[in-house]
Amino acid sequence: MSGGEDFRVRVVEAENVTPTIRRLRMLRCDGGALPPYAAGAHTVLTLETGGPKLRNAYSLLGSTLSGGAYEIAVLRTEASRGGSAFIHAAVGVGTELTLSTPVNLFPVHHLARRHVLVAGGIGITPIAAMAAELSAMNAPFELHYAVRDEALGAFAGDLALRHGAKLRLYVSRRQERLAVREILQHQPLGTHLYVCGPERMIEAVLGDARAAGWPEDSLHAERFLAPAGGEPFAVRLARSGLMATVGEHQSLLEAIEAAGVDAPYLCRGGACGQCETTVVAADGSLRHHDHFLSDAEKAAGDKIMICVSRLEGRELVLDL
Ligand code: FES
Repeated sequence: MSGGEDFRVRVVEAENVTPTIRRLRMLRCDGGALPPYAAGAHTVLTLETGGPKLRNAYSLLGSTLSGGAYEIAVLRTEASRGGSAFIHAAVGVGTELTLSTPVNLFPVHHLARRHVLVAGGIGITPIAAMAAELSAMNAPFELHYAVRDEALGAFAGDLALRHGAKLRLYVSRRQERLAVREILQHQPLGTHLYVCGPERMIEAVLGDARAAGWPEDSLHAERFLAPAGGEPFAVRLARSGLMATVGEHQSLLEAIEAAGVDAPYLCRGGACGQCETTVVAADGSLRHHDHFLSDAEKAAGDKIMICVSRLEGRELVLDL
């Protein structure tokens, strides 16, 4: 239950932009218009992989300014629970998929005096959309894009063509390092910083900005975590009395949905807080993996973000 409408779409373009990144362009099956969205928005794709349905969030490339089609870029990961591997192996031109109305948890703050965009790897997808939007609005920005290998720098060529000297590319195989402190040093007051990429990189960039005294409301990060796996356990829904088993590679949210209960969510990645659920009883320890609850809330043990967190134990009872 993302709070929006779902749409059937058909893939009209599919290409591997790098050996591990596949880009899909999709239009509505019924020929209607897809809802507009601003840079930084994501959509949730429902994937029917043959096993349990997977719902994965993907940042949208471009913005409403780029036209009616939706585009996403999907990284094939070793740790994939099946979603990215399925998209790489089985989704091509003509495939029909279901996606949700976009939600934007990572918007551009247009009142900012200047914008510093920092991306690592596949984190470029919302950041590239922001650069396109800022460029179209003639707003001052700079774009820093760190990749392991030049061949893996999806969209680097296109971004260089579009943004010229505003783009700085850092290729770690060439020993080029993102020097965050230097980048942040000479920014005018009122600059906003946006970062998306691997968790460690996000923490390092935000840590440097905080250490340099940047105000919290000028710092923006996009984190989508994959649900953590673990030993199966039982979940009981106190209001309905329903029982379900949460599989080794399944999230609590997915198990609850598979049992026919429409639980709330937006990001499905531990960031937005929408899926916060009250714990009635836990026969074991809660394993919190989200970025939403405070340390004190996690220690209290009476709330859980069901999209990414789970129980290490036998049975969890939720107020659902
Ligand atoms: S759906 Fe966003 S934190 Fe769970």
